[in-house]
Amino acid sequence: MKDSEKLIWDHLRVPYAIPFAASSSSSSSHFKTLPKFLFYFILFLSLIYLLYSFKLLSSRDCHDGPFSQRRFSSFTAVPNPNASELQQARKPTELRHVVFGIAASSKLWEHRKKYIKLWYNSTEMRGVVWLDDHVEAHNDDDLPPLRISGDTSNFSYTHPLNHRAGIRISRIVSESLGLGMEDVRWFVMGDDDTVFVTDNLLRVLRKYDHTQFYYIGSSSESHMQNIHLSYSMAFGGGGFAISYPLAKALHKMQDRCIQRYPALYGSDDRVQACMAELGVPLTKELGFHQFDVHGSLLGLLAAHPVSPLVSMHHLDLVEPIFPNMTQMEALERLMSIPMKLDSAGLMQQSICYDKARSWTISVSWGFVVLIFRGLFPPREMEAPSRTFLNWHKRADYTGFPFNTRPVARNPCQKPFVFYLSDATLLNSTTSSQVIVSEYQRHRVPHPECRWRMTPPSIINTVKVYKKPDPHLWSRAPRRNCCRVKESIKIGTLVVDVGACEEGEVSEF
Ligand SMILES: *[C@@H]1O[C@H](CO)[C@@H](O)[C@H](O)[C@H]1NC(C)=O
Ligand SMILES: *[C@@H]1O[C@H](CO)[C@@H](O)[C@H](O)[C@H]1NC(C)=O
Ligand SMILES: *[C@@H]1O[C@H](CO)[C@@H](O)[C@H](O)[C@H]1NC(C)=O
Ligand SMILES: *[C@@H]1O[C@H](CO)[C@@H](O)[C@H](O)[C@H]1NC(C)=O
Repeated sequence: MKDSEKLIWDHLRVPYAIPFAASSSSSSSHFKTLPKFLFYFILFLSLIYLLYSFKLLSSRDCHDGPFSQRRFSSFTAVPNPNASELQQARKPTELRHVVFGIAASSKLWEHRKKYIKLWYNSTEMRGVVWLDDHVEAHNDDDLPPLRISGDTSNFSYTHPLNHRAGIRISRIVSESLGLGMEDVRWFVMGDDDTVFVTDNLLRVLRKYDHTQFYYIGSSSESHMQNIHLSYSMAFGGGGFAISYPLAKALHKMQDRCIQRYPALYGSDDRVQACMAELGVPLTKELGFHQFDVHGSLLGLLAAHPVSPLVSMHHLDLVEPIFPNMTQMEALERLMSIPMKLDSAGLMQQSICYDKARSWTISVSWGFVVLIFRGLFPPREMEAPSRTFLNWHKRADYTGFPFNTRPVARNPCQKPFVFYLSDATLLNSTTSSQVIVSEYQRHRVPHPECRWRMTPPSIINTVKVYKKPDPHLWSRAPRRNCCRVKESIKIGTLVVDVGACEEGEVSEF
């Protein structure tokens, strides 16, 4: 999780497999020597138990249909909930139900705390920053309280390439649980350089029953990283969520579990190892972004999956998301303008065509608009273009765990890029509110193109009209539609974005 030099290694030595094998063979030999009467007695008990559990199961079946898995019907957290507790648990999850556990290092604190300040609001959120050592705290009022992680020097750590901080960080869920905060539904882990879009985090968490065991997060953008750590692992920098009852179960066994995996690399693989012992799989949500890449995030963020944008990480290691400013200024622009106006729609892609001029237009709402010469099918536009490089510099340059496309196959196809400059909410009447976001052309030289068609360079500004749509994610996932509108002003392209209408398709 703590990052800059995740390398290739081989931790697939599995000495811990041996004790299991030894103990299972010895227990089977005990079984053979059981006296006969004991055998029948155990058989009798098992039969009663079986009958009893069968009855429980069938009575539960009467209440729940086959699709009730995510409804708030069966309780694991509260064994005998009374009516008021049941009612409380069924209310939608709010930010106050979430406790953030942030892994931070004392050395980088002065710089990294700026990332936390971008998204954390101490009046409506709870969290703790877990550090390895004391830091001088100044102007930290708006930040979560700082704490020093418990001593982990008694745990063994044998990985040759990383630092034993992984042990301390993997215990943050348990240590946060140990603080005994009330009314917690989810623990959400992140690094000190993780930026959360908390509205969207909530939208994701609300899909899941917090009274059950859930481990929610996402993989790395690097196929190699996923192979070496695990495809079943939530990458810690992208952040992950653990439901309260699962955190409790983890807490009970984690210290013993960690001791069984001294050769693992970091913290998130240690958490996953314990999840595997608990038998809880990763629930993948594609809006958590570890961003194990170098270069520019443009390709990834212009073609975001149809899923709410939840987090971004490694922002020190990639180019600022808006050009000609620092990463911090760029994030401030994103979070103070479009995120405030319509967090659900942030970075959501829509694809449409200016058929008269044979252009393809791809909007990543609140961030960027791309205009291409020529008509590209949506199946191509929804694949990220490779503006970014692989985490492992020597890896295959297409070695991502998703499809990508080249930035341009032909010099004429290099996109014209328009970055968000401003957005405002027009309050004509509250029922017909509309957000107008403006995007200015990034003026960079383009290769010469001899295609006989209008060059997109005649456009300086793109104006996108979109209704705020806070319930976007209460519906089944679907890409928004966009439509090119008549523009009176020369040099301006007007686009309308919103839920697709009956029969509307991205046709070219
Ligand atoms: C339900 O349980 C909670 C906490 O255990 C308690 O505070 C509350 O008074 C109980 N309500 C009823 C109606 O029994
Ligand atoms: C934090 O949240 C409170 C309550 O929602 C709000 O009034 C305040 O403006 C927020 N602070 C910042 C810095 O956004
Ligand atoms: C190490 O110390 C921690 C904290 O005191 C304790 O919870 C844990 O059980 C210890 N682990 C071992 C392997 O002794
Ligand atoms: C970059 O920003 C500076 C200051 O904000 C401005 O003067 C300059 O024109 C910008 N350059 C480009 C290429 O946009």
